[in-house]
Amino acid sequence: MASASSVEIAPSILAADFATLGDAIHAVERGGARILHVDVMDGHFVPNISIGVPVVASLRKATQLTLDVHLMIESPERYIDAFAEAGADMISVHQEATPHLHRAVHAIREHGRKAGVVVNPGTPVSTLTEVLPEVDYVLVMSVNPGFGGQSFIPGAIDKIAQLRQMRSGYTQAFRIEVDGGIGPGTVASVVRAGAEILVAGTSVFRSPDPASAVRELQRLASEAVLQRA
Ligand code: DX5
Ligand code: ZN
Repeated sequence: MASASSVEIAPSILAADFATLGDAIHAVERGGARILHVDVMDGHFVPNISIGVPVVASLRKATQLTLDVHLMIESPERYIDAFAEAGADMISVHQEATPHLHRAVHAIREHGRKAGVVVNPGTPVSTLTEVLPEVDYVLVMSVNPGFGGQSFIPGAIDKIAQLRQMRSGYTQAFRIEVDGGIGPGTVASVVRAGAEILVAGTSVFRSPDPASAVRELQRLASEAVLQRA
């Protein structure tokens, strides 16, 4: 992953056409993306079903992009080996999805992958205090997970700022990622608050030109970094 001072756009394939995923990936590569966000949903933890291990394995063969796998599944520790072996580079698990968050984080790191923890809009970041020294990144949900195309929930901004503040007390500098409702109108506020990886589905893949959409989000993010307090 890049240094904590840079901001990266992570296009979410949830908003792409699954029948032409290869084309979607090549478009965001042309736009300069280095991370691809992959939303895995089980129909239990969230009220939707998306994709799973075989798709991650196929993506791994199709691209060198960093694969950022967001597990929206109950008891995610059951599937960490499978996603790591399929080629995920980053794997995140929800705080709300397991009583064994610490164990799940360690399982991811034992595979040599970057480990992330995720909080839903209703979950305070203070619930992560004990695992923060162990994680590579924290993902703040700015929508309730399950569907693309929802409106950004402004409470995420304060949570990002809180995490940035909490991070100053740790020796390990986890990165801060945000997911949901990110587009030209919301990039600046999340970046100013401290977000470093921006997941964007609809605003990239539902645009007529996904490569340009990535470039534009990246430009707005780079401008906003300069305005951080
Ligand atoms: C929501 C997913 C998101 C989603 C973001 O459950 O985690 O990654 O794809 O989509 P947009 O950018 O459309 O809000
Ligand atoms: Zn996601």
